[in-house]
Amino acid sequence: MQYQGGTAPSTATGQASLSLIDGRTGQSYSLSIQEGAIRAAELRNIKVSEDDFGLMSYDPAFANTAACRSAITYIDGDRSVLDYRGYPIEQIAEHATHLEVACLLLKGELPAAAQLQQFIAEVTAAGAPPDGVRKLFEAMNPLVHPMAMLMAGLAALGGEFPKSAQVENPEQRWSDILRLLAYTPILAGWAYRRRLGLPFVEPDPALSYAGNILRMLKGEAGKPYRPDPKLERALDVLLILHADHEQNCSTSTVRGVGSSRVDPYSAVAAGVAALYGPLHGGANQAVLEMLEEVGSVANVAAFVQSCKDGHRRLMGFGHRVYKSYDPRAAIITRLAEQVFEVTGQNPKIRIARELEKIALNDPYFIKRKLYPNVDFYSGCIYEAMGFDVKMFTVFFALGRMCGWLAHWDEMIRDPEQKIARPRQIYTGPARRDYVRLEQR
Ligand code: CMC
Repeated sequence: MQYQGGTAPSTATGQASLSLIDGRTGQSYSLSIQEGAIRAAELRNIKVSEDDFGLMSYDPAFANTAACRSAITYIDGDRSVLDYRGYPIEQIAEHATHLEVACLLLKGELPAAAQLQQFIAEVTAAGAPPDGVRKLFEAMNPLVHPMAMLMAGLAALGGEFPKSAQVENPEQRWSDILRLLAYTPILAGWAYRRRLGLPFVEPDPALSYAGNILRMLKGEAGKPYRPDPKLERALDVLLILHADHEQNCSTSTVRGVGSSRVDPYSAVAAGVAALYGPLHGGANQAVLEMLEEVGSVANVAAFVQSCKDGHRRLMGFGHRVYKSYDPRAAIITRLAEQVFEVTGQNPKIRIARELEKIALNDPYFIKRKLYPNVDFYSGCIYEAMGFDVKMFTVFFALGRMCGWLAHWDEMIRDPEQKIARPRQIYTGPARRDYVRLEQR
């Protein structure tokens, strides 16, 4: 179903149906089609006998299965469209701030000025994580990856706030949402500074969300910090571009884990774990490591060939949904220029541009519709801003937190949702008798 923008996808059912004949029995069936989908549960009525379990659909990696109805984000991967609550990402990235976007994703509408001020005040009032979590960071091995530290910190927060188990209570959900928005940048700052052996820096309520992230990573404890306005805005735009992307691996993980009615801290800790992987958010770190490995423009052609030969993947290329240019990548390319005006150019950008040029003109990539994704250039920006490559995926998590929380809240409120529990096709041995250890 292609949503052309303008109005929300219709919930009208119409009379559409799918007629099928089961070749095993000759029996015919009619399945209703709603919003471009059939209900997989209706397949269970298709049976060869009374005691048959009924038909299932087999869809590894959920390549063609809608697991929920959602009003948060719309993507048309063939037309490079990404809308948050109906607003095009290009307009949002140009005009909005990250907390404004968080409010939009969580509440459904753009906040009026007073509502935004109140939301910012509520996030600020959430304060800082409890001392126990701070001590956890102080005790962690500085060599531990900051995504692992973030995951541990978020999981520990769940234990610190036992009332967060009351996930059916909307007020409780909202206070945990505010805490997670306030605490995640603080945990990111602690992770960054723990790795460098530096004292932790407290947030400054006078700074913006992005300004505070820069302060807590780059500032000095107890001293005022004034972020460069262009870098502050660039980081804010990067957070916006990462804020949501409908049912990606980490968001569907947050929904799936949250569907057990565990507290939201545990659910988003699981989201961080999913994001950490190199095929998902970890790709921004992998891209920089790849550019390092390629080393120079002269080696690009041979590197692309090795990707085509199946020895490796061209990191930062390809997407499950986008089969044309990722609209976020287009915005990031322009953003990179603005950042380089302040920081000087990242020398790796020449290698990245050459990789993009060669790949976009190569039949292997053209045939498979592989284009640069959001992660292809973001790492070059973070590196130019002076951040360690291991922090890049943490920045992704900082942006995505509001999207995860909006989906978690939507999932809890959705009366159709239950504990997530896919089916399987069993391929193991048929039932057999246990053989005692001494007889094997
Ligand atoms: N380099 C080389 N070949 C690729 C790549 C790539 N980056 N991506 C896909 N292909 C090939 C793949 O080998 C397959 O070829 P064939 O049909 O000959 O077997 C074909 O394209 C289809 O690939 P797929 O694995 O079925 O595609 P998918 O939808 O399962 O995977 C993806 C999507 C993003 C995991 C994949 O494109 C990839 O691994 N990209 C590199 C990692 C990356 O940049 N990830 C960030 C994604 S965007 C941000 C985010 O979600 O976090």
